[in-house]
Formats: sequence, structure tokens, C-alpha cells
Amino acid sequence: MSILSTVTRMYLTRSFRPFVFTDRNDSSVEYQDLVNLGLYVHIPFCRSICQFCPYCKMQYVPDLADRYMDALMHEIDLVCSGKERRKVTSLYFGGGSPALLSDRTGEVVKKLGTYFDIEEGMGIELHPSDLQEDILGSLKMAGIDRVSIGIQSFNNKYQHILGRKKIDTDHLSRILSDFSFDTVSMDFIFALPGQSFADLKADLDMAFALGANHVAIYPFIDFAFTKNEIGEMKKDEKRKLLDQTTRYLLDKGCVRKSIWTFASQKDAGYSSMTRDNFLGFGCSATTLLLDSFKINTFSVEEYIRRVHDHRLPTSLTIKFSLRQRMIYYLFWTLYGNEMRVSDFEAFFGEDFYRFYGLEFRVAEKLGLLEEKDGTYSMTLKGAFYYHHYESFYTYSYIDKMWGIMSREAFPKRIKL
Ligand SMILES: C[S@@+](CC[C@H](N)C(=O)[O-])C[C@H]1O[C@@H](n2cnc3c(N)ncnc32)[C@H](O)[C@@H]1O
Ligand code: SF4
Repeated sequence: MSILSTVTRMYLTRSFRPFVFTDRNDSSVEYQDLVNLGLYVHIPFCRSICQFCPYCKMQYVPDLADRYMDALMHEIDLVCSGKERRKVTSLYFGGGSPALLSDRTGEVVKKLGTYFDIEEGMGIELHPSDLQEDILGSLKMAGIDRVSIGIQSFNNKYQHILGRKKIDTDHLSRILSDFSFDTVSMDFIFALPGQSFADLKADLDMAFALGANHVAIYPFIDFAFTKNEIGEMKKDEKRKLLDQTTRYLLDKGCVRKSIWTFASQKDAGYSSMTRDNFLGFGCSATTLLLDSFKINTFSVEEYIRRVHDHRLPTSLTIKFSLRQRMIYYLFWTLYGNEMRVSDFEAFFGEDFYRFYGLEFRVAEKLGLLEEKDGTYSMTLKGAFYYHHYESFYTYSYIDKMWGIMSREAFPKRIKL
């Protein structure tokens, strides 16, 4: 598996150069001239820990969480102070369960508001236990207009497999109609052992009936560094399930917003990933700039310590070659389901066809991509292979990297 991703990477970047992350980190973040800049804030606390979850998270401890939030404010100042105020697309809070600190969400929004004008809106991930009046009230007051709820499944059999609690659907429907958000997204994990299309269809029907206007369906991934014991579904079964589900959602009139997300209303959207550039704050948060990508430490204590010492909490940085950055761009733009050649050329100032014309024409011939008026979009077959390739990428790169980073606060070097 990792051989395939290595060979693909070598071919697409036209280089033997691996992706190398080192601790040679910059002492400032130069974001002023970047286009389409998004913001992300990571809050790593959860009421209880799910064994299958790969994200940077820990058990909620009120005093530590408060110190963390103080450090977060400080990190924002370290990165942004002295720079000219500028526009950004959006702000997303992820975790962990960021709404555990909903009483301080407004403070973070206000702090970021001193440096940025947020143009397209603000979103937050919610755990079902966050669906409480006081929490949603604080989030509304802070200006949050889109929420993404981690349902996973309404079916108790699968909730049990995942070690999660039964969802109270009456309460969910009531509270969502009391607090109206522009986007209500619900997350589902699919391809769990024994899961059928009928199971998944019932979950999605229920989501829309309860007030969702956007859904995310994530294939279950068994990360090696987690304590997960749930097995994965076979590739063919997974493909059938994904194709049936995609067709069902498209036939219902949903719009595919990205490889994994679908909206029942055109304007609904929830995506912290598909930005050309972004700034990440908090532990494990990543920052993508024109020529580099950096990752903050995964250790909450070390994060607080670093920021307290007036130093950026960056753990590792990769300096991209032009082709590496192009591959990164294409990977995440196609994740958003379509790629406009003119956007690529405006971003890089280079002729797209000179760099990747051949690969895209071959992908078109193979029925993976379709081209119309200079925009490439993914076919059903293309989306499946993207899914498949994404798991190679997840296993070869993310699993390895996050595994190391969850054990070591500041590794010296990681070669992928
Ligand atoms: C940070 S969590 C969501 C927010 C909240 N903490 C919760 O659990 O409801 C983001 C989403 O990642 C997905 N996820 C987590 N672990 C996964 C795994 N091993 N495979 C696939 N999806 C996963 C779940 O759908 C989850 O809702
Ligand atoms: S799935 Fe959500 S609640 Fe569970 S550990 Fe991960 S972030 Fe926390």
C-alpha cells in the first residue's frame, strides 16, 4: 500500500524527493498576501474518548481546558499582532468537542475579529451531548451560523459497535427547530461491519427528517495508532455501498459538495478542508501557506508551555517544491469535487496543461473525470477511486504522522 502511494507521489511530483517534515520551523507566519485564506481553531477536549477516533483529543479537565483557552488567545496574538487587518473566508471550530468550551467561543471569535473580517460564516463541530439550550444559545450569540453534528448512526446496533450512546431523536428535532442555523450538517460513519444500504439510507432519511440540510458520510478507517478493534469492510462491498448511497442522494436532488458531503439545499455547506490557504490555531492545528505546511504540537501541556514562552507551538514544517504544492492543491481541490483550470493558473501563475494536462486527459479517458468549459469534475467512478486513493494517503501519511505526533510533542523529522 505504501509502495503504491510512494510511486504515485514520485510520478506526480516528478521527483524522488519524499515529503519531509522537520523541526526547522519559522518564527512568524507570513499570511498577508495569500488568497482564499480560511481559519481553523482546534479544541481537543471530549467528555469521553471513542477508541476509533484518530483526532488530537483528551478527556475534558475544566482547569486545564481554561488554561488551554488562555494559551489559544495568546497564540492568535503571536501569529497576528502587528499585521494589517484582512479578509478571510470562514472560521471553523473543530476537535475534540469544541462546544464543551462554548462559554468561551465568543471570546475567541472576538479576538480573531480584531485581526480578520470573516466573510462567509462560522461553523462548529457538535457532539450530540452538546445539543443543550445554554450551549447552542452561547454559540448563536458568538455568531456561529453552521453546525456539524457527529451522529455516526441513528441505529443502536452501530452506535453500540462504535461505543456511542443512543441518539434522542425527539430532542434533536425539537432543539434544532428552536435554534435555527443556516447549515445543519450531520456526520455518519459508513462501511461498519454488516452495514447495508438499507441501514445507511434509513440514517440519511432520518437526518433530513430531523432538520439536516447537509450530510457527511465518512468511510470507517481503522487507524493503526488508535485502540480501535472494529474491522473494516471489504473493498467491493464498500464500493457498492458508496455507489448506492451516492446515487440515492443525487436522485433525491442533493448536490455533491465534496467527495464525502452532500447538501439538500444548494446554499448549505460545511467544509474546513477545501481552502487554498489556511491558518490553524490550537494543538494539532495545521497551517497551509503558499510554499509550506506546518503542524502544531499534539501535546496540550507542551502547547501551553510554548505559547507561555512567547514561541509559536509549531512542531513540524514542510517546505514544498512547486510540484509538491501543486499536488497538494489538486488533491484538496478535487476533494471539493471539481477543479477550475483558471483557478489553478491564477493560483500558481503557471500553465496547468503544461504540468498536469497529460494526467488529466488520461483520467478523462478512463472515465474518472469529466471536463466542461475548463472545469474538471469527478465522475461516480472517479469519486470511488479518489475515496480509495484517499485511504492509501490516510494509511501511508496521516496514520504514520499522527501516530508519531500523538507520542512525541516535538519530533525532529518525519519522512513520508
Ligand atoms: C472530531 S469528530 C466530531 C465531533 C464530535 N467530537 C463527535 O464525536 O460527535 C469528526 C468526525 O470524524 C469522523 N470520524 C472519527 N473517527 C473516524 C474513523 N476512524 N473513521 C472514519 N470517520 C471517523 C466522525 O464521523 C466524526 O463525527
Ligand atoms: S469521535 Fe468525537 S467525541 Fe469521540 S473521541 Fe473523537 S472527537 Fe472525541
